[in-house]
Amino acid sequence: MATQPSSLASTLERIRARTARVGVIGLGYVGLPLAVEFAHAGFDVTGFDVDTSKAEQINGGRSYIPDVAERDLAECVRSGKLRATADMSALATMDAIDICVPTPLRKTKDPDLSYVVKAVEAVAATLTRGQLIILESTTYPGTTDEVVQPMLEAKGLEADVDFFLAFSPERVDPGNQQFNTKNIPKIVGGVGPASTEAAAALYGATVEHVVPVSSTRVAEMVKLLENTFRAVNIGLVNEVALMCHTMDIDVWEVIDAAKTKPFGFMPFYPGPGLGGHCIPIDPYYLSWKARQTGFECRFIELAGQINSSMPHFVVDRVAEALNSQRKSINGSRVHVIGVAYKRDVNDMRESPALDVMEALSKRGAQLSYSDPYVPELMHGGHLLRSIDLPDAVKARPDCAVICTDHRAFDYAPLVDGGTLVVDTRNALKDRKAPTIFRL
Ligand SMILES: NC(=O)c1ccc[n+]([C@@H]2O[C@H](COP(=O)([O-])OP(=O)(O)OC[C@H]3O[C@@H](n4cnc5c(N)ncnc54)[C@H](O)[C@@H]3O)[C@@H](O)[C@H]2O)c1
Repeated sequence: MATQPSSLASTLERIRARTARVGVIGLGYVGLPLAVEFAHAGFDVTGFDVDTSKAEQINGGRSYIPDVAERDLAECVRSGKLRATADMSALATMDAIDICVPTPLRKTKDPDLSYVVKAVEAVAATLTRGQLIILESTTYPGTTDEVVQPMLEAKGLEADVDFFLAFSPERVDPGNQQFNTKNIPKIVGGVGPASTEAAAALYGATVEHVVPVSSTRVAEMVKLLENTFRAVNIGLVNEVALMCHTMDIDVWEVIDAAKTKPFGFMPFYPGPGLGGHCIPIDPYYLSWKARQTGFECRFIELAGQINSSMPHFVVDRVAEALNSQRKSINGSRVHVIGVAYKRDVNDMRESPALDVMEALSKRGAQLSYSDPYVPELMHGGHLLRSIDLPDAVKARPDCAVICTDHRAFDYAPLVDGGTLVVDTRNALKDRKAPTIFRL
């Protein structure tokens, strides 16, 4: 295939002039905020999702992602800057395409790239000269150049010459009031310098700060380092919590005091276990890839063991709390407060509250829950509905377990009414009572 040096220049020109049409594949927690940000930057944006209900909601101006304000989304759609479709053939008309599909684990904890492969197949089917393709899904180092690039080059176009290919990890933190898609610096690594330049130009027009790196593998590794750093430090602090419990030391007070050190310490907090689509999963992408090169990631495995043991520790604390009132888990009514994986989000993926609930059920507890973000959930084959916390307190459960400390909760009636509470988040920090059991 003949080299066309004008490809980069014309791609850059369309980006600078905002005439580039931008496609976003996968309109979930990552893709939808990104699509809205591209529209804000002045691009003509089309979102692609196999879930037709998402495309319908977007086209109707309705947001299903808490971090995307409905007013904002509706305005982008009304002004004609944003639309969504399940018809992948429209990818042919895009100048730039961002892939934001899921990257889960298989049951064996191996990477499941099937969503990425499907999305790349759709891109490859209509790949045209000058297109910029960016993978945003979190994945192991080598995915872009070993898996995506050969699929796209199969029909004869050459990456970094005829089309541009980059990896740019999404670092969004759902529910974070301070940092969002726009103001979190964007790491960009292309398969070659032209690809890095094109991708950096697209994000440079859209977000506040772009950080180019030398390759797709560095960009892929940056994301895994960030999330492995969190998983390992949470593992450490969870182990310290278990240790403090045996020594009768308040781990929360220890962390609060330690974090007064102005350098060399960063606070992480214990909890009922890891949740969400990133921290419990991403480190295994890294350990899987490292194993291919004969390297065992010991920190990742150890942190994984400690973090996944936390729901059982919570259940032990519930047993201890009930025991203090001569009760057993078996037959007790246990009310779970907060079931989303973290504060102020509606995301249930990998939520440790589900593991706590399952373990409590296995030991014979009768369960109910409160979560303003999760109106209902399936548990043990039954549909449970969220109960408003004040009503739940009035029903006098034998024990309540705070798994997720949403800001909307008012704990006063719970504590003042003398309900037995196991607090896994230090939500009752300033309250002391013999009925409160902390992690
Ligand atoms: N959620 C987060 O906080 C977060 C943060 C940073 C990075 N990430 C990473 O970003 C990626 C996406 O995560 P998410 O949380 O947005 O996932 P999500 O499940 O919320 O959204 C993914 C969307 O992709 C769609 N989809 C799946 N296959 C498709 C296909 N072949 N074509 C078109 N659409 C398809 C799904 O229907 C869904 O709407 C993952 O790799 C994740 O690890 C997530």
